[in-house]
Amino acid sequence: MPATTEEAEAPFHPSNRKYLGSKRLLSGWIGAVIRERAGTPAHFLDGFCGTGAVALEMAGAGTAHVTAVDSLQSNCLILRGFAAAAAGLEGGARIADTLRELNALAPREGYVTESYAGAYFTRDNCMRMDAVRERIEEMAAGGGLSPEARDYLLASFLLAADRVANTIGQYDAFLKNMDGPAHRGGRHLVDERVRTPFRLRPLAPPPSGRITVIAADILQEAARLPADAAYLDPPYNGRQYIDNYHVLENLARWEKPVLRGKTRKFDRGGLASPFCRRRLAGPALSSLVGAVRAPHVFLSYNSEGILAREEIREILCGHGETACLEVPYPVFGNGAGVSRRRTVTELLFHVRRSGAARG
Ligand SMILES: C[S@@+](CC[C@H](N)C(=O)[O-])C[C@H]1O[C@@H](n2cnc3c(N)ncnc32)[C@H](O)[C@@H]1O
Repeated sequence: MPATTEEAEAPFHPSNRKYLGSKRLLSGWIGAVIRERAGTPAHFLDGFCGTGAVALEMAGAGTAHVTAVDSLQSNCLILRGFAAAAAGLEGGARIADTLRELNALAPREGYVTESYAGAYFTRDNCMRMDAVRERIEEMAAGGGLSPEARDYLLASFLLAADRVANTIGQYDAFLKNMDGPAHRGGRHLVDERVRTPFRLRPLAPPPSGRITVIAADILQEAARLPADAAYLDPPYNGRQYIDNYHVLENLARWEKPVLRGKTRKFDRGGLASPFCRRRLAGPALSSLVGAVRAPHVFLSYNSEGILAREEIREILCGHGETACLEVPYPVFGNGAGVSRRRTVTELLFHVRRSGAARG
């Protein structure tokens, strides 16, 4: 069904994106378990923040200071944009004017059009994106935007791009029928939104405490980020997030690298996560939990992950008293546009280091 004008102009929320492994539906449960076992932490670390679902849940429930880390700049920019909105971005009226001005720019051909037209986005939307993305950079370079306003606009840009992307939730492939019918024989061929115009929208400010967002490898950062409780939600299968979200990451970085192959990827050397490799995931988890400076460490994992429950327990037990909670979780298989509902078990481990207070 085509989006109504009202829907098209509704503000973006952090969850208005397709993100594999987002804890949006589980964040209430995860937050409640953390508070029950560790009390309300004054300082909380979300080490693999993704969409920020758990960071925002904790910030909204009374944690004064949240630090969120993710290795993808696109995730960090989106969350920073919402943090700026929550902090009451200075010149709120000016931002509304800037959004209007950017949405009214004449479409033009550029890097986005050359790279992605007819694959991940319609040509028309690529040209809109080219005009807006270049203008945001020009405004920032000319001193016309504060760093917070730039984050806000780029968060809106990335969510607006994701909304009109010709994908089924990740960018390791695109749907092939951009100009054909939306469904055929029960198969989802193309999302109707793909043909709606790319448009920036305001960001709905989340109710929150202070959120600091760091784009980095948590393995490098953990030791210098003390917290009262840390939450770790690493990838649990062999699919690298940088492969799944390379388009958004490329739009965020705006370094205009050469793209290769049918899926139009840039050279992602250095961005692969050890948590996606069978041989590296265990040692990476062990060194991360050893480095984290928090008396309470919570780890989400999936029953179908590359590390088995007993392997994880063995690693964690070396760092403190370990408990494992579980909850059944419905997921949708994503085989070429066909959704199959099935249930997996989501595991939440709690490591209480010796001397840590009980919640
Ligand atoms: C399962 S997702 C987290 C989902 C998140 N909890 C949410 O609710 O949206 C795993 C995240 O870890 C990030 N990641 C992978 N390796 C990382 C690393 N070494 N350091 C920091 N982030 C990493 C990925 O970019 C991805 O966003």
